[in-house]
Parts: sequence; structure tokens; C-alpha cells
Amino acid sequence: MSVRVLQFGTTGQLARELIRQAPAWPVELTALPRAEADLNDAEQVARLVHERRPDLVINAAAYTAVDRAETDIETAFEVNAQSPACMAGMCGAGGPALIHFSTDYVFDGEKGAPYLETDPPEPLGVYGRSKLSGEQMVLASCPRALVLRTSWVVSAHGRNFVTTMLRLAGEGGPIRVVDDQFGRPTSAADLAGFVLSQAESLAAAPAGDPRFGLVHFANAGETTWKRLAEAIFAEALGDAAPPVAAIATADYPTPAQRPARGTLDTGKLESLFGYAPRPWRAALAEIIAELKVTA
Ligand SMILES: NC(=O)c1ccc[n+]([C@@H]2O[C@H](COP(=O)([O-])OP(=O)(O)OC[C@H]3O[C@@H](n4cnc5c(N)ncnc54)[C@H](OP(=O)(O)O)[C@@H]3O)[C@@H](O)[C@H]2O)c1
Repeated sequence: MSVRVLQFGTTGQLARELIRQAPAWPVELTALPRAEADLNDAEQVARLVHERRPDLVINAAAYTAVDRAETDIETAFEVNAQSPACMAGMCGAGGPALIHFSTDYVFDGEKGAPYLETDPPEPLGVYGRSKLSGEQMVLASCPRALVLRTSWVVSAHGRNFVTTMLRLAGEGGPIRVVDDQFGRPTSAADLAGFVLSQAESLAAAPAGDPRFGLVHFANAGETTWKRLAEAIFAEALGDAAPPVAAIATADYPTPAQRPARGTLDTGKLESLFGYAPRPWRAALAEIIAELKVTA
């Protein structure tokens, strides 16, 4: 019997990959677009979970506009914290399990080594604070919640670093990219595949199962935005790859401050789930191949 999954979000990078890959797994996935489930309305979100009575809720919607969040604080907290908390309140012992997502931006990036799940978070901006509040409220409200913290999500869809860099290359101007922020790129496709691979067993797992809680998920390998841009161009354009000039974060001021090194440690993912993330470069090659097919 397939697991009935209620997903929030249809248009984001992760949401699209979940929808695309779901047919390969024993899940019956219903994905709600913003028009039917606005996370700016936490009560509506709670009502939907209550009425639909799924086996598993996947929250693939989030307020991800990191810079806009600095001045749109109320919406960022409603979408990233209040609504996930309401979802979580409807999940748990007698209800569905919940999979929710958070970010490396809960850290200030000053640790000097990859972050463990047990490291104290210290967000630098509103987005990070709202996501931290969301993960804390979800875990406090639902004993059957898995919160996956991820980083630098990329895919062949929508606006993300890969598609933005390729657009800039097409425009032909000079390309200057920050080279002093470090992190682990993560393929939305890999994250979605992992989530779907766990859906059946997490939906049936009782509270207290060690797989519930906070777990880091990212592709293997640390890089900078500049080196990621170079890899994108090498993969997509080969000999025609444009040069990428290294700049410092200070040369590219943004409303929100980003962690200098928010690199996530994924040892817990590997030991708890037996899942070893593949190198980001291999995942990137697949994304570029997909973009070439659809171009
Ligand atoms: N992108 C990253 O680099 C990154 C890094 C670390 C963690 N994460 C986390 O990973 C998860 C997935 O991110 P992603 O990259 O897939 O995000 P994304 O591509 O920016 O998509 C966000 C999704 O949330 C939806 N959404 C936003 N506000 C909404 C609202 N009020 N009601 C309903 N839906 C709403 C968007 O719908 P519309 O299309 O209608 O706006 C879109 O479907 C998120 O929890 C994010 O915080 C992402």
C-alpha cells in the first residue's frame, strides 16, 4: 500500500523534484500550490493537514528571499516558522509524520570547521532567524518530525545559482563572484530522492525513532561560489567558459549578511540513514546535462 503524502509547495526547486520523482516510489503524492495552501495563513495550513489526514507531510515551501526577508520580517516568520509550527502541531503521535527543511544560514559561519547538528546556531539575518525558529518550533511540536538542514540548493529549474550564472554567461559581461564564502552545494534532485526513499519507513516509524530530529543533508565537498561558478561554466560551456573574477564578500554588499563558512557536516546522515551523499560535482554534471537537453 502506498504512503499518502501531503506536500506543501509545487513550484520551488525541491518541490518540483519531489513531484517529478514521486512516481518511482510507493507514495501517493498530493502537492498543494500556494493558491490552495498559502503559508502566510498558518491556520489554513493546520486545517489542511487536519482535513486531508495524510500519512506524511512534506513541507517544500519556504520564504527563501534572503535579502528581502531583512525588511519583510513578518512574512518571513509567518511562512518559515508559524506555518511549519502549525503543520507540526497537526502531526505527531496519532497523526502524520513530518519532513521539514532548514538551512546552513542558521549558523554565523565562524566555527572554522563543518557544523554538526549539535553546534549552537547563531543566524546573521532575518531569513536564518526565521528558519531557526521554524525548525525549533517544528521539533518542539512534533515528536515524529525530521528536519533536514541543507545548503546551496541547485537544480535545472527556476532561479538558482546555476541558472543565474548561465544567464550571466549568455549576456557576455564580466563575471565577478564571491570567493570567500564556503559551503556545500546540494542538488534538489538528490535531496528529493533521499526524502522519497525514506517516506514509507518514516511514515510508519514511532515517536522516539532516532531518525526523527535534526539532520544535515548536503552533497559531498566544500567549495566557494566562485569555484562553483567555474565548475558550472566548465561543465556547460567547456572551452567557451568565460573567466570568473574572484571578489570578496565586502565587494558585493547585500542587505543580508551570509555565513562565511556555513559548511554542514553530514556524518549523522551517513550513520543514521546509511546514506553517503555523492560529490556535488557529479550532481552538477547531471543538472547541466538536463539543462542541455531542455535548451
Ligand atoms: N535554495 C537554497 O539555496 C536553500 C539553501 C538552504 C536551505 N534551503 C531550504 O530548502 C527548502 C527548499 O528550498 P527551495 O530551494 O526548493 O526553495 P525555492 O525554490 O525558493 O521555492 C520556495 C517555494 O516556496 C513557495 N512559497 C513561498 N512562499 C509561500 C507561501 N506564502 N505559501 C506557499 N508557498 C510559498 C514558493 O512558491 P511560489 O513559486 O509561489 O513563490 C516555492 O514553491 C526550503 O525550506 C529552504 O529554506 C534552501
